[in-house]
Amino acid sequence: SELKNIIQGIPKTELHLHLEGSFEPELMFEIAKRNNIPLDYESVNALKKAYKFNNLQEFLDIYYLGAKVLIYEQDFFDLTWAYLTKVHSQNVVHVEVFFDPQTHTERGVPFNVVINGIKKALEKGKEELNISYKLIMSYLRHLSEDDAFKTLEEALPFKHWIDGVGLDSSEVGNPPSKFINVFEASAKQGFKLVAHAGEEGPVEYIWEALDLLKIDRIDHGNRCLDDDKLVQKLIQDKTALTLCPLSNLELKVIQNMEDHNIVEILDRGIVATINSDDPAYFGGYMNENYYETAKALKLNTTHLKQLAINGFEASWLPLEDKEKHI
Ligand code: HPA
Ligand code: ZN
Repeated sequence: SELKNIIQGIPKTELHLHLEGSFEPELMFEIAKRNNIPLDYESVNALKKAYKFNNLQEFLDIYYLGAKVLIYEQDFFDLTWAYLTKVHSQNVVHVEVFFDPQTHTERGVPFNVVINGIKKALEKGKEELNISYKLIMSYLRHLSEDDAFKTLEEALPFKHWIDGVGLDSSEVGNPPSKFINVFEASAKQGFKLVAHAGEEGPVEYIWEALDLLKIDRIDHGNRCLDDDKLVQKLIQDKTALTLCPLSNLELKVIQNMEDHNIVEILDRGIVATINSDDPAYFGGYMNENYYETAKALKLNTTHLKQLAINGFEASWLPLEDKEKHI
C-alpha cells in the first residue's frame, strides 16, 4: 500500500528495543535444540499461541522463560544479528538497544559472554549493514538495588562498550526511587540514563525518574498527559518519550490502537518517538508499529516524518550525524 511504502521510505531509528524481546520463536527453538535445553512448548506454533497477555507481568514471565535458552556467546550473537538484519530490511539506520544482564548472570551465564556476543553482532551490523548503534544495560527493577550495584560492578570492565543504563521489568511496586543510588553511581561512571516509567505505573513514577534518577529520556511515559505540569516540563526540557504502540496494545495498556494518546502527545509538542519494545512478542517491528499507529489514528505524512525526526533528535548520536536526518 501507499502508506507502507511511505513508512518503508523513511530512514528510522529504534530507541526502545529489548534484545531478549526480539527473540523469535524459530530461533529460540533452534538454540534450545543445539543447547539441549527443553522448552515448555512443543512447537513454534504452541509457543506463539501462548503470546496472549493481559498485562506486563504475564508478558515478563514468558519473556524470561524464553531467555533461558541463551547460554553461549554465539547465542547472543545470533539473537542480535537476527534483529539487525530484520530492521535493516525496514530502513532502520540507527539503534539504541537494551540488554538485561541480570536475566543471564542470575543463571550463571557470565557477563562477558553476554556482552561479547552482542557487541560482535553490533559491530558486524555497523560494518555490513551501516547501522550505527548504542548499547544500554538495563537493571531489573523487581530485583534489589544491591543486585543492580553488582551488575554495575560487572559492567565496568566493558564500560567503553556501554553507552547508558536503563530500568525495566515489573514497574508497579518498584518505583524509580528504589534505584536512586545506583543511578547516581552509574552517572558518575559516565553512563547516560533512561528508565521505563509511566507504562503501567502512575505519573508519579515519571516525576521520580526525572527528579530522583535524573534520566535524560523516558521509556514509554504513556501516563504523562495525566499531569499538565509534567507536560510543560517535558516540552521545556525537550525530554523525549520512547513510545511503543504495539506493546501498549498487546499488554493492555490500551484496549484499542485508536485509544493511543501518541497524537495528543505529539501535538502538545513533546518529543515522541515510535519503537517496537519486544517485537518478537508483540507482533511487529518498526514498520508495523508505524503502520498500525498511522492506520488507527489516521496519521498524515507530516506526523510520520516528525516521529522519525524525533527519533534522531532523541538519539545519542553526535550532533553532526543527527543533522543529516533532521
Ligand atoms: N516494560 C518493562 N520491562 C520490560 C519491557 C517493558 O515494556 N520489555 C522488556 N522488559
Ligand atoms: Zn521496554
